[in-house]
Amino acid sequence: MAKPQFFLFLLLFLFLTHQSLQQQQQQISAADLAALHDIRNSLRDLPHSDFFSTWDFAAPNPCSTFTGLLCSPDPSATATPLLRVTSLTLGTGLAGSPGLVGSLTPALSNLTALTQIVLYSGFVSGSIPPQLGTLKNLRVISLTNNRLSGPIPCSLSTLPNLHTLDLSGNQLGGPVPASLTRLPSLKVLILASNHLSGELPNVTTQLLHLDLKNNRFSGLLPSMPLSLRYLSLCKNEMWGPLNVLVRLSELVYLDLSMNSFSGSIPESLFRPTLSSLLLQRNNLSGGVPRTLADDATLYGEGSIVDLSHNILSGELSPVLAGVEILFLNSNRLIGIVPDEYVRSVSVGSMKTLYLQHNYLSGFPLEPGSPPLPDSASLCLSYNCMVPPIGTMTCPANAGGLFSRPAYQCQAIHRGNAD
Ligand SMILES: *[C@@H]1O[C@H](CO)[C@@H](O)[C@H](O)[C@H]1NC(C)=O
Ligand SMILES: *[C@@H]1O[C@H](CO)[C@@H](O)[C@H](O)[C@H]1NC(C)=O
Ligand SMILES: *[C@@H]1O[C@H](CO)[C@@H](O)[C@H](O)[C@H]1NC(C)=O
Repeated sequence: MAKPQFFLFLLLFLFLTHQSLQQQQQQISAADLAALHDIRNSLRDLPHSDFFSTWDFAAPNPCSTFTGLLCSPDPSATATPLLRVTSLTLGTGLAGSPGLVGSLTPALSNLTALTQIVLYSGFVSGSIPPQLGTLKNLRVISLTNNRLSGPIPCSLSTLPNLHTLDLSGNQLGGPVPASLTRLPSLKVLILASNHLSGELPNVTTQLLHLDLKNNRFSGLLPSMPLSLRYLSLCKNEMWGPLNVLVRLSELVYLDLSMNSFSGSIPESLFRPTLSSLLLQRNNLSGGVPRTLADDATLYGEGSIVDLSHNILSGELSPVLAGVEILFLNSNRLIGIVPDEYVRSVSVGSMKTLYLQHNYLSGFPLEPGSPPLPDSASLCLSYNCMVPPIGTMTCPANAGGLFSRPAYQCQAIHRGNAD
């Protein structure tokens, strides 16, 4: 009975040994090996990091022994194809590993079969070698959370296959090269948390994800592709109206918080498919529409809308009653909180409702109605009402005042009546 199994194992064994022999017979290209030497000499492990411990150049085949390498036979060679490095990952990316220190050598560009290069968090400094722009097969460049400085090389704009460029968490300066935003294959562009500045170029490539938060960009919103699903420009110095966003119907995540955008919020941005709408700390005025453009669906679980710290006016719109986490604090909102909001907080679908620092005049919690769930975060302080007893779970910075001085309330209501 054991015989057929034995033969199966034998076949498998022969197959595997044949494979590994073939791999061992295949040599890494001399140019790639020289480049790896140079990479090894320009970077080192920080104490308590052991990425390079496997990089032993005396070993017969780096492709099967070095951590961070993936190789493939060179498709252009015929007889005995050499192995080429197609993917290079520098650093372990393990939590608690301090990573690498040193710099990125221009010799990286000798790994001409490279399709992907990743550098994990560490202290690697110096500039991004412009020579990376010669690696025409590159699809992914991810050099994040290090100390890279200098400009974003314009040469990267010539990579025809580049799909993802993530240079976030470094000290890069200067502008975004306009040519970069025209790369034909680029889908994901993440330059967050650097020192980049200047005005943003118009984006014409069919990007899906654009994250430029935490830089020093200024000026107006550029025109952006209709394909965009994720956009963050949080914490920059941008201003002007939001009109150009009206046509971006695929957006599911929009964060323009902490800028100086002004004017009213386009009605089309209030739609449940755009389930994260973060516009806090700008100079936005006007109100929230009373009905949704597409009123077939409602905001639901997982949705977050933060319009706090603007100059929004008018009454609260019932449209936002389904939002799970809603911040409207520090605006100029008036009127009574709609019943729909109270109901959503009562049933627990609205988990956070911050309305402090407005001019609201009532929260219709009927006497004898069941208490609001303990899990709800509700803040009504500093409005034109005495907040209902036991409803207050304000953040520490909401201030201790329970109501706004009466003269302020009279002034805004007079102002609104004019
Ligand atoms: C990279 O390639 C160039 C040209 O082929 C060569 O002159 C140079 O020595 C190589 N550098 C390294 C570090 O391999
Ligand atoms: C960007 O596009 C807008 C129109 O969508 C145009 O008015 C503006 O001049 C363009 N900016 C640049 C720098 O090309
Ligand atoms: C905010 O907008 C108002 C007009 O709506 C304008 O007067 C004011 O200068 C703006 N403030 C800033 C800081 O942009």
